[in-house]
Amino acid sequence: MFKTVALVGVTGAVGRLMRQLLEERPLAAETFRFLASARSAGKTLTFRGREYAVEPLTKESFQGVDLVLASTPDEVAAEYLPAAVEAGATVIDESGYFRMREGVPLVVPEVNPEAADIDRGIISSPNCSTTQMVLALKPLHDAARVRRVIVSTYQAVSGMGVQGTQELEESTAARLRGEEYRHAAFAHPIAFNCIPQIGREKEAGYTSEEMKMVYETRKILGDPSIQVCPTCVRIPVANCHSESIVVETERPVSPADARSLFEAFPGIKVVDDLPGGVYPMPNTCTGSDLVFVGRIREDISRPGGLSFWCVSDNLRKGAATNAVQIAELLARRRFGAK
Ligand SMILES: NC(=O)c1ccc[n+]([C@@H]2O[C@H](COP(=O)([O-])OP(=O)(O)OC[C@H]3O[C@@H](n4cnc5c(N)ncnc54)[C@H](OP(=O)(O)O)[C@@H]3O)[C@@H](O)[C@H]2O)c1
Repeated sequence: MFKTVALVGVTGAVGRLMRQLLEERPLAAETFRFLASARSAGKTLTFRGREYAVEPLTKESFQGVDLVLASTPDEVAAEYLPAAVEAGATVIDESGYFRMREGVPLVVPEVNPEAADIDRGIISSPNCSTTQMVLALKPLHDAARVRRVIVSTYQAVSGMGVQGTQELEESTAARLRGEEYRHAAFAHPIAFNCIPQIGREKEAGYTSEEMKMVYETRKILGDPSIQVCPTCVRIPVANCHSESIVVETERPVSPADARSLFEAFPGIKVVDDLPGGVYPMPNTCTGSDLVFVGRIREDISRPGGLSFWCVSDNLRKGAATNAVQIAELLARRRFGAK
């Protein structure tokens, strides 16, 4: 088993869920430690029946730690996580900072588990909108080689962390009371709105969130020739990202074949009955660790093309669950854990 597992960013939206998942799942360690910013230092939390104080993160925090699960803003990851590696730990990082670095594995356990085979260093967990898409693309890619993807996302406010959720709730209530609300988490009011910008302008008129979907997809699927055209949109939904995905493959995939491929792949659940009004939606997918796929149909604008709808809990499979699954993968490899 691991000696000491440290959760960094434990007070955040992803960190809280990581702690909850580690309560529910059997990852074994002699000791757990919980870290966040100096703002949270000293707060107490209960974990597996014991009380712990949240510790402030410093570069000296990692002595004796062999596994770190980190979910902090990029700049915090950049400043502190190299010290964890220096101290001998393996770090599973939720931030975007290290993902595209040469030599840093970017891992979705159902898709590229072999990439996580390192003794120490940083393993990145992908951006939430990428994770659910690559998981859905993987069986299609294996069967028919994905050549081009056009994806439009409908992303929940919890993707912006605790502050995003708070802003949706408060601004919606303020709007219903007819009051002004000073928004801070998003560039525009999110209540009763949708915002076609996530992240900053990056290149060629695309945002940083959109370019993450391009580069991370290629890295995880190990195919730099895959073309991705993304549009990322923030919508006033509390939790779960939804995506409309159109795929061109080298060999045609019929909707029936796609359905069979999705059904056979671990981590995907097909929910698809248009006449019955049954398809994945944020309200029905929240709280699940799976990636849900529905509305599977032919792209009628292009023979052999495929179109589908994909929903997943961005805080779970898009973040905390994926990180914990990577930790479990390491535990199986290193200690033969179940
Ligand atoms: N939310 C998602 O759906 C999602 C999905 C995939 C990846 N991610 C990535 O995961 C990371 C965390 O996201 P989140 O949504 O959980 O954000 P969040 O709710 O804002 O939480 C941020 C966490 O980082 C801690 N932190 C901030 N500054 C710190 C500092 N100087 N030193 C130590 N700890 C510090 C915070 O501690 P305090 O509470 O003490 O401030 C908090 O625990 C981000 O990189 C994000 O891009 C998020």
